[in-house]
Amino acid sequence: MEKYLVTSALTYANGKLHIGHIAGSYLNADIFVRYQRLLGNDVLYIGGSDDYGTPISLKAEEENVSPQDIVDKFNKSMRSDLEGLNIQLDNFSGTSHPNHIKDSQDFFSNLYDAGYITKKKLKQFYDEKQKRFLSDRYVEGNCPFCKAEGARGDQCDSCGKLIDAMDLIEPRSKLSGEVPIVKDTTHWYLDLPKFETQLRDWLNTKTYWKDNVKNFVLSWLNEGLQERGITRDLNWGVPIPLENTEGKVLYVWFDAPIGYLSSTKEWAEKKGEPEKWKDYWLDKKTKMIHFLGKDNIPFHTIIWPSMLSKQKEDFVLPHDVPANEYLNLEGQKMSTSRDWTVWVEDYLKYFEGEYLRYVLAVNAPETKDSDFSWEDFKMRINSELNNVLGNLANRTCVFTTKYFDGIIKQPKQISELSQQKLDEVYNLALEIGKSYSKYHVRKATKQFMNIARIGNKYFDEMQPWKEVKTDSKKASETLYVCLEILRILTIVAAPVIPKSMKVLHEMINVNSPIIWDNLSKKSAEYSITNIERLFRKIDEKEVEEQQEILKRKQDLSLEEEIIKDHKPEIEYDDFMKLEIRIVKILEAERVKKSNKLIKLKVNIGGEERSVIAGIGKNYEPEELIGKKVPMLINLKPRMVMGVESQAMILAAEDNGKLSILHPDKDVKEGSEVS
Ligand code: 2FM
Ligand code: ZN
Repeated sequence: MEKYLVTSALTYANGKLHIGHIAGSYLNADIFVRYQRLLGNDVLYIGGSDDYGTPISLKAEEENVSPQDIVDKFNKSMRSDLEGLNIQLDNFSGTSHPNHIKDSQDFFSNLYDAGYITKKKLKQFYDEKQKRFLSDRYVEGNCPFCKAEGARGDQCDSCGKLIDAMDLIEPRSKLSGEVPIVKDTTHWYLDLPKFETQLRDWLNTKTYWKDNVKNFVLSWLNEGLQERGITRDLNWGVPIPLENTEGKVLYVWFDAPIGYLSSTKEWAEKKGEPEKWKDYWLDKKTKMIHFLGKDNIPFHTIIWPSMLSKQKEDFVLPHDVPANEYLNLEGQKMSTSRDWTVWVEDYLKYFEGEYLRYVLAVNAPETKDSDFSWEDFKMRINSELNNVLGNLANRTCVFTTKYFDGIIKQPKQISELSQQKLDEVYNLALEIGKSYSKYHVRKATKQFMNIARIGNKYFDEMQPWKEVKTDSKKASETLYVCLEILRILTIVAAPVIPKSMKVLHEMINVNSPIIWDNLSKKSAEYSITNIERLFRKIDEKEVEEQQEILKRKQDLSLEEEIIKDHKPEIEYDDFMKLEIRIVKILEAERVKKSNKLIKLKVNIGGEERSVIAGIGKNYEPEELIGKKVPMLINLKPRMVMGVESQAMILAAEDNGKLSILHPDKDVKEGSEVS
């Protein structure tokens, strides 16, 4: 018996699951696990949510809740989505689970004690308004190479070059839009160059890895490994197990894979056998297989094995990392920020989980990116699941019931042609096993659908509807062969469509359980009592409805890019009625009990006015004093929170963020704006 520890990449807990997650790291793992269990192997399937990191803490701030609230909400939604798709992990934890802190700190300490972690002082951008250090992707500016605007601190999308954030021209914080300051900080680095030789030797033993994965790792190694920062200035994460490191945590990518271990420990505890995790993590016979999307390759093939190899315990290293490529949606790259995806939760409101499993399996992005489209979804369900597999099951069971009272016994002798069919199907079934074991889900799915095609063709050729009239024994044999084909299908298609195959198994009443070993064990009898339709057809209207939903999403994201709410045209005279002048701010103080309002005293050119400005969330009073800004000064005075406001400050608004305006050149207070 073989032993497997299978993982799906931990999903960031700042959002729900979408079909990209399923195609990338869940369905392929679940199918592999189900196949190995059919073989009778010992398999543990582990996963969870990836709970730490800046995006989660920012989302929590935005929504005014704690990061743990965010994590709990999404962890729960992931569990329910996985259940809806019948993806059955043995444990679905999350890295904010208390176990995880100790495990992650131990990993750090062991590497530290063994001399694989170095400390560095460095300069980093700091957003004074947000009071946080900015990791590279939260700084943007003009590219130092091609000068394009909006380049991120890690990479320029225009010229594709990698950027050192410090080289950005006119850097700005993506969080506040402010110019960040440069501040000293200290961080800890994993000394990856020290692992280079060992990694190369290890990689040489991985002859069976997928080409895309192996080439990726090789190109990293050939470029030369760099030290990698493994800590961050942040409050949400695993505290660094060293003195005087307040306000710093382990980088989310350092602690995330350790989540596989802590999730296994949680599983063992729940089972009441707290030491049981060792059976997998410390037994060299265990094959640890990480299912993930291609962006996760370097972390699992370079950093994670390095981390694992220097622990006190002799942990197993990854056996295989069958990374998938990406899934596109209707020909476009998926993007959660543009909402260009299909959320599992939404999908399940309309369709059966089993159908998505089939469509994503037959179209898995194994060697190149693949595409999900609703038209293809319909075609696969109707023309393949229904018309091929469903049809074979239905017609065989209906005939058996109608002409043989639902009972077909194994014939004493079988014709050469029928035996040939059975052999053909059996051999294909063995091929399907090979495909599953090599993670070729796409191929396996096509192969089992071919078995159903062979069954239908045989049914058509034998014409049992004619046979019953002339030779009932012959008709019975034909149905027996078809039932045998269905029985084989209940085994070979079970990893992909387990629910339907269970229904079919019950429908044809096979005594032997669904296990791989039973492939060649012919059933002595079939007895059909209750015929169910295995699959329903998808209506064109249902497809149109989903396409409409996507179209609305696309329209919405386009709309966001264009200016909304233009005001109606006005006459020149209307404009001339406005008296806008440059004023100088003399005093500024917050209006009591308001975090939004600031009371200003301004000089409008030989005269002083009091003004209430709603810019308190974006400015501190002190920074306003002395500024010259345009104001509308002939607006009728208004009372705001009991104070009279005698003018209105002009400010630009960007998504709730206010920025006051300045004249381009220094002008006297009182100068008119026209
Ligand atoms: O890319 C991601 O979605 C990461 N959350 C994957 C982490 S995988 C593992 F290391 F936990
Ligand atoms: Zn550039």
